[in-house]
Amino acid sequence: MKRFLFSFAFILISTFLMGQNAKIEQKITKLLDQMTLEEKVGQMTQYSSFFDVTGPAPSGGDNKNKYDQIKTGQVGSMLNVRGAKQVREMQKLAVENTRLGIPLIFGYDVIHGHKTIAPIPLAESASWDMEAIQRSAEVAAIEAAAEGLNWTFAPMVDISRDARWGRVMEGAGEDPFLGSKIAKARVQGFQGDDLSATNTIAACTKHFAAYGFAESGKDYNTADIGTSTLYNIVLPPFKAAVDAGCRTFMNSFNELNGIPATADTYLQRDLLKGEWGFDGFIVSDWGSMIEMVAHGHAEDGKHAAELSANAGSDMDMESHVYVKHLKNLVESGKVDIAHVDDAVRRILRVKFELGLFDDPYKYCDEAREKELLYNAAHTEAVLDMAKKSIVLLKNEKNILPLAKSGQKIALIGDLADDKNSPLGNWRLASDNNTAVSVLEGMESMSKNTITHETGVQLYSGDAFFHQHININTTEANGIGKAVEAASQADVVVMVLGEHGFQSGEGRSRANIGLPGMQEELLKMVYAANPNMVLVLMNGRPLAIPWAAENVPAIVEGWQLGSQSGNAIASVLYGDYNPSGKLPMTFPRDVNQVPIYYNYKNTGRPGPKNEVFWSHYSDQTNAPLYPFGYGLSYTTFEYSEPKVTTMGRTADVTVTITNTGKVAGTEIAQLYIRDKVASVTRPVKELKGFEKVVLEAGASKTITFKLTEQELGFYNNQGKYIVEAGQFDVMVGTSSADTKKVSFSIK
Ligand code: NOJ
Repeated sequence: MKRFLFSFAFILISTFLMGQNAKIEQKITKLLDQMTLEEKVGQMTQYSSFFDVTGPAPSGGDNKNKYDQIKTGQVGSMLNVRGAKQVREMQKLAVENTRLGIPLIFGYDVIHGHKTIAPIPLAESASWDMEAIQRSAEVAAIEAAAEGLNWTFAPMVDISRDARWGRVMEGAGEDPFLGSKIAKARVQGFQGDDLSATNTIAACTKHFAAYGFAESGKDYNTADIGTSTLYNIVLPPFKAAVDAGCRTFMNSFNELNGIPATADTYLQRDLLKGEWGFDGFIVSDWGSMIEMVAHGHAEDGKHAAELSANAGSDMDMESHVYVKHLKNLVESGKVDIAHVDDAVRRILRVKFELGLFDDPYKYCDEAREKELLYNAAHTEAVLDMAKKSIVLLKNEKNILPLAKSGQKIALIGDLADDKNSPLGNWRLASDNNTAVSVLEGMESMSKNTITHETGVQLYSGDAFFHQHININTTEANGIGKAVEAASQADVVVMVLGEHGFQSGEGRSRANIGLPGMQEELLKMVYAANPNMVLVLMNGRPLAIPWAAENVPAIVEGWQLGSQSGNAIASVLYGDYNPSGKLPMTFPRDVNQVPIYYNYKNTGRPGPKNEVFWSHYSDQTNAPLYPFGYGLSYTTFEYSEPKVTTMGRTADVTVTITNTGKVAGTEIAQLYIRDKVASVTRPVKELKGFEKVVLEAGASKTITFKLTEQELGFYNNQGKYIVEAGQFDVMVGTSSADTKKVSFSIK
């Protein structure tokens, strides 16, 4: 009976939604019939704000054109306008002046929180906790929607194997399986169940595609990858986002195998909109249409517009080539009007779904804005997310957790009292210096005597628009004071790493050690007092072999957002037992990059006692910290995994025991290896994980289900296949520490 009622309810809801969708399509058709070609092109045009923070900027000069264009229906979307009042004023320009009153859609980079800032996405990914990640996106959406926004340019789902690339901070790391789960969680968090609700916003999966495979880690650089990597590594998180109902996509700056992504018909029309059935719209990245001239793919702006429109780029973000040329291109037969109609239909569809046609001002409620920005519940959510994102990398002699009283602590490092850097570089809407610093967190949670010394300054100046942030490489005056404080302390806590503005867009680094004079500082302080905990703050994996070898305890504290210091202090004092696991390999040496766990075996895998195998003669192949790695204040033991097969599926069972003295959480991981395949498979591929909470001494048996969805792969024609044969299954605490069992499928 229950089942019957459930099916009945499901049919009713589906029928209702189908009816709603059909109604929207009818409304779009009616509107399209009334639109001039110029108005259609207008919907395909997006401008960045020309508003001051407190209201409209003067309507003369350069801005006059944009004002006039909004009023005459030549603009469909704005980015970088925010605030209930500001959005309302700009929306009015469109709704009250244009012939058809079509509302604008307002986009913004809401990447990891809006006002209340969550950890950077790479850090969140270290939680492997889909509920927390979804909640974090939900909180970001609530605050963004309260500021009048409808649309975020997130999640970035670009897989990357190169820690030099500055934007690894914005993604989920190196693995497509974990990346796909996170893509889904973030899309669902932003969009919720009802896009028209005033606490949800449309998501935008980006950057389609292969932006994370920029050669040599330099941002915007060429991506040249084979089909196997494209289908099996790069594309799965994008596909997962479509399956999760993501309403928009952004293409990417890079060329992929010779074609700039913005002009890639295969990616946009054939695959995304065709095979994957995506019915939302694609926005270009900022200026990526006009940049095709520099790429050497388009002759000029007009040609760029033609290539982009034909390839399926629906909206032009700040290239200004659609507004200038698209009408003419259609009239001269270079672009089919059907392409324009399709693009406009997609854009209008999302506007209808957001409820903007019912009430263009529905997101512009100043009272709601006041109530929701920096709401206490949001602080709680980002604190929870921050704690879950922390990874314990080393803890010799159980130096951690620290006692909460009776300790003289030397807290050293420029980042230790920094209230700005932990917000990361993507915190456009947030207020500067609003993060809780490590110093504040540690002071508020203990009765210890804490002496803070900067040691060496990390950077100076306002870094946001600076090409190179000003790293201090000479000023060493503070080292003496730091050494002095350390020599008198029971324990030293060093907070070192990168400033928030040292990773992110345009912020690739060729050296990925500790910037500036921090390594010198570390060594000198260590010589004075080796009873030391190193807290890292960084937006990418760092190569820190000396610290890993010498410093007894290391905590990966990323850029954890508004509640950074409280989260870190709870881990240092043992109020929270860390459970994060690295979503990206940490190299020993930048020269090992690209380094990743799911590599291919090659014909000469080694290790061998001679020269002719795949290795370096002056460095080990092993990373500093492998993918999936992370410790706890307790220890876990895994039983031998057991496997039962049924046709083309397998159940893998393992028992995990908490063998330490305190309760803890383990993220159990399952990897497979397809031993022989028509297209070679990696030595390991993550295909399952589970978060297991265990009291001291307790055990739990968990079962991973492997189905055809996990056991197959994409061949070089992009077809998903499952091949008969033998598989190894490896279950364990990280990609480098597992127990193995094998099975076969027919
Ligand atoms: C360029 C970035 O690549 C993209 O991710 C971002 O959303 C846009 N700028 C808009 O700010």
